[in-house]
Amino acid sequence: MANSNQYEPGRDLLSPNRNFAPITSEIDEQGILMVGGCKLSCLAERYGTPLYVLDEATIRAACKSYKESLEKYYPGRSLALYASKANSSLAISSLMASEGLGLDAVSEGELITALKGGVPSNQIVLHGNNKSDQELLLAYKNGVKIVIDNQHDIDRLTQIVPSGSRPAELMLRFTPGIECHTHEYIRTGHLDSKFGFDPDQLESALKQLKKIDCARLSGLHAHIGSQIFELEPHKDLTGVMVDALALARQLGHPIEDLNIGGGLGIRYVEADDPPSIEDWVKVISNGVKEACELKKLDLPRLMCEPGRSLVANAGLTLYKIGSRKNIPGVRTYVSVDGGMSDNPRPITYQSCYSACLVDRPLDPVKEKITIAGKHCESGDVLLKDLSLPYSRRGDVLAVFGTGAYNSSMGSNYNRIPRPAAVIVNNGQSDLVQRREQPEDLLQYDVIPDHLIELG
Ligand code: LLP
Repeated sequence: MANSNQYEPGRDLLSPNRNFAPITSEIDEQGILMVGGCKLSCLAERYGTPLYVLDEATIRAACKSYKESLEKYYPGRSLALYASKANSSLAISSLMASEGLGLDAVSEGELITALKGGVPSNQIVLHGNNKSDQELLLAYKNGVKIVIDNQHDIDRLTQIVPSGSRPAELMLRFTPGIECHTHEYIRTGHLDSKFGFDPDQLESALKQLKKIDCARLSGLHAHIGSQIFELEPHKDLTGVMVDALALARQLGHPIEDLNIGGGLGIRYVEADDPPSIEDWVKVISNGVKEACELKKLDLPRLMCEPGRSLVANAGLTLYKIGSRKNIPGVRTYVSVDGGMSDNPRPITYQSCYSACLVDRPLDPVKEKITIAGKHCESGDVLLKDLSLPYSRRGDVLAVFGTGAYNSSMGSNYNRIPRPAAVIVNNGQSDLVQRREQPEDLLQYDVIPDHLIELG
């Protein structure tokens, strides 16, 4: 898929995942791009580049859309959880908590970020296919729901939870046999996945958990994939999950929660056309409701766990343009001051993005260039064949849709410090992550004595 070259942000105010730019994007009278009421060129000046920018109104609109759609279409109780692997920080945790969302964590780091950010512990779930004892204990002590992924989790919990004390609150994850890519999906009996119990093991795991005093199984979980544009796989998933719900209740488990996972896709480039949050929620709500009616089951609390569709389109990254290399007849590389360490998705998944120059987003396109990162790696290219007006050294480039799986998957490759992150709203900008400095990267380095002597 080609990268988009035009600034056509789209305007679905209710479902931000359908626009590649934040919903507050506007062009001021001087033709400069603003987000959250802040001029992007001023943010670059004030905070430096690369800079992650998050638009608070866009995140809140996405949260509201999940919550209100669940209330509209699902007659039972419901809870949307934020999959914090998409972008984990204290500020985002507290924003999610203020919108009444719960949170999905997959490590001790994500868990303490959620707890310290103010997410109520009974609205947090802990995932992971290889949880440490420390992670299990932290979750147990705080009353966080633990998603049992495999036999190892069961074995460790029986060791960790003191006998005679309050049982751990559990959900059980299984692989539903639905394999999903963005534009196709298949149903199979078994999936080659490291996560969750295989469908064949589900019944014996449920029977085993029934005999364990230290555990109370009150939920079931499945997740079929990410950046999904079709609604059919999630509809199928609800049927599979309600079958599992019937089985678990038959075996005596007090199952209250059905967690359908995340996966709704977003628009990165003009050609992407994901469903709205409302349509997605409608499908999962109706699916669970109808399957429960058919099987005469009490409605469970319906949970979902979106990550990308809550934060990706609220985010953009600002870079300063630097060097240029023209290879006649081949391509022109224009380099920016960040790259694969702040956005590893293009080199990892060949992902495409949309971008524009912030101080002349509407100027006529004049050339096709390739935006390269500054890392010592030929594949460190952020956007291929991007059509832009002529750009000069020092111009600020905005790359859209970077609010999910950029900061959270970032690295310090080449000892490049991590960017700062700001949140913008109503003309105000606030730092949510300070910029790392090169010296910060030395703080955990140790020179063994014998090397100091030799030096
Ligand atoms: N729940 C579970 C159990 C998950 O594994 C995931 C994502 C989610 C929820 C949230 O899915 P979402 O709504 O964000 O699609 N690094 C990749 C994406 C990996 C997704 C991993 N799991 C990327 O940058 O595209």
